[in-house]
Amino acid sequence: MKLVRLNKISTGLRISSLGGALLTLAIAPGCNDSSSGDMTQPDVSPTAIFETLAKPQLVQSCANCHDRPQGSVATFLAEGTEYQSITNYENGKFINVPGANQSVLLAKGAHTGPAFEPDQYAAVQGWIEAEIAARPSNVNGMMKSALLPTAPITTGDFNMNFGNEAPINDPQANITFHLAPDSSNFYRVSKLTLTAGPTTGIHIKHPKFYFITNSASFADPADSLGIVDLSVPANGSATIGTGTVLLTNAPSNDPNTRIGIAFESLTQSMVQPVQVACKDFKDFNPALVKDLQGCAATCHGGRNGAATSAYDMKLSTSTDMAMLMSFCVSSLGRINKQDPAKSILLLQAIPQAQGGTANHPFKYSVAADITRFTTEVTTWAAGEK
Ligand code: HEC
Repeated sequence: MKLVRLNKISTGLRISSLGGALLTLAIAPGCNDSSSGDMTQPDVSPTAIFETLAKPQLVQSCANCHDRPQGSVATFLAEGTEYQSITNYENGKFINVPGANQSVLLAKGAHTGPAFEPDQYAAVQGWIEAEIAARPSNVNGMMKSALLPTAPITTGDFNMNFGNEAPINDPQANITFHLAPDSSNFYRVSKLTLTAGPTTGIHIKHPKFYFITNSASFADPADSLGIVDLSVPANGSATIGTGTVLLTNAPSNDPNTRIGIAFESLTQSMVQPVQVACKDFKDFNPALVKDLQGCAATCHGGRNGAATSAYDMKLSTSTDMAMLMSFCVSSLGRINKQDPAKSILLLQAIPQAQGGTANHPFKYSVAADITRFTTEVTTWAAGEK
């Protein structure tokens, strides 16, 4: 889940210029599959917009110089880590601005390098607006936190994974919750849980849900987790607050709305010097990897930003063992070693009638596929215990 970042968010933060053409582009590469319904989930998460819209332009026109220092100007398009590079450049100089037009990245114009073409400008502008909306750190009194994936507002079980992103940087760390409408038709979050991975404890203060629509990003006014100040040790897990939040202001009638979590503060604590590796790689690769390659080809390999940001499976198609081992490690956050049959990796892909989640757009439907995938996931998860 790459949907988070934030600290107190103020209402009315707008993604003003995330207009027509841009959104269409962000949404178009969905993974429609007529046999399983419309699997497209529009993705307005900044990382996805960066990957699909801004990065191709920046790489094409700017990276031949800015993939290395230019005089006193440090590298901001390091090859292979463009997103980290450009967002971290001079402590976020390009994105910590009140409006995208004030970013020197857009304002620079022709210099030793070229100015942006208008369509390039629009793409980069859309991305910066999304960053601004997603980082309430840009608003007075808020501090930036990690990016967590966002989730659509639908009934189901969600797993937001901290991934390899600062500040947590442990792909086995998650926030999980269940989402469903309550009797008065407000969406209710329940079973809200923070789980730390093996490499670091996590400290959170004042988490807050916020919504992203096509035109705006705003916090839920309920703000019932204001007093939460929670530390979870490495490998630990704890309920956040009472575990329940009533979202009183979720936009209704907008299927494109996504939900994210921001924090007043989100930090590592008691970092553990452990080397993380899969214990049971032989049950992960090749059997399970083969199935995940199918998911990568349809949605999780980059074609759908929301899906890829939730669980990036690009490495599944690698033939390099080290890459596959790293894919294994990044997949550990989706299994339940104590109770393999409860692994989110399994529940997302099997039908609800068999205990699967309600919300995942793809489900295996052929009995043999369900059996095979179930065996693969449970065998591997048990082997990782
Ligand atoms: C031919 C090499 C070259 C290319 C291509 C190039 N630049 Fe530059 N850029 C430079 C040099 C040299 C500097 C440092 C001198 C200056 O600031 O003008 C620089 C500086 C900058 C700065 C100033 C950074 C700061 O912290 O003030 C920005 C912003 C910038 N470039 C953006 C871009 C963008 C956007 C593109 C692509 C559209 C691009 N550059 C393409 C050479 C290049």
